[in-house]
Amino acid sequence: MRPRFPNSGVNLHLRGPDLNANKINIAIDGYSSCGKGTLAKALARELGYKFIDSGAMYRAVTLYILNHNIHPEDEAAVASCLPHIRIDFAVNSSTGRNDVLLNGRDIEQEIRTLRVAGAVSQVARITAVRRFLVQAQQAMGREKGVVMDGRDIGTVVFPDAELKIFMTASSEVRAQRRYEELKASGADAEYEEVLANLQERDRIDSTRKDSPLTMTSDYHVLDNSHLSREEQFEMAMEWVREASLGG
Ligand code: DC
Repeated sequence: MRPRFPNSGVNLHLRGPDLNANKINIAIDGYSSCGKGTLAKALARELGYKFIDSGAMYRAVTLYILNHNIHPEDEAAVASCLPHIRIDFAVNSSTGRNDVLLNGRDIEQEIRTLRVAGAVSQVARITAVRRFLVQAQQAMGREKGVVMDGRDIGTVVFPDAELKIFMTASSEVRAQRRYEELKASGADAEYEEVLANLQERDRIDSTRKDSPLTMTSDYHVLDNSHLSREEQFEMAMEWVREASLGG
């Protein structure tokens, strides 16, 4: 079997008739910049599942309203935009990434800017937005075989998900990772600004009235402050195996 991460030597031999026959949904929730997407993508690739980045959907709505000069706190105006918004995912043929499309346009790069990051938590507080996106997310998971990451996936979107993982890490570790990603992509960013944005998003995401980021006892907790990608992947695959076998 191919190792999932270059040089990792991870070779778990976990694929078997049971894993393939019994497709499950995997919910990965947690704080911003915890590496949820990285783990979710690796699991989806390994299992042949669909990876859905639900945060990208909230970011897509945010980009739409910013581009239409609507204030992110103007709930009525934001809600009135929703019928004009269509969000899809499509594999980008040059990068192989599963990019998000807003009304048919690839906006994967634009939604990663601090402009969008600075407004998305406000938009994600709005119940009409959450209803709109949760409905779309639930439709994507109907056939099973989905790995979705976000904040409310195991609590609201797929409360019956066979596997729920809650990822966390210290805010300094997360800000450093995010800062390095932004720098690598050529963005102009300051570490302090990234840290402040992340802490403010954590605060809003976990204290909002509608679907706050929270965890129930059926989650597996994965604190990755000091874990390599390979170690996280190994832990998660062990949980996948248990969940697929109904354990
Ligand atoms: O995962 P992310 O940083 O791309 O998410 C962007 C924002 O969207 C984040 O501040 C919280 C919100 N979000 C949410 O409320 N519910 C989700 N399922 C996913 C993201």
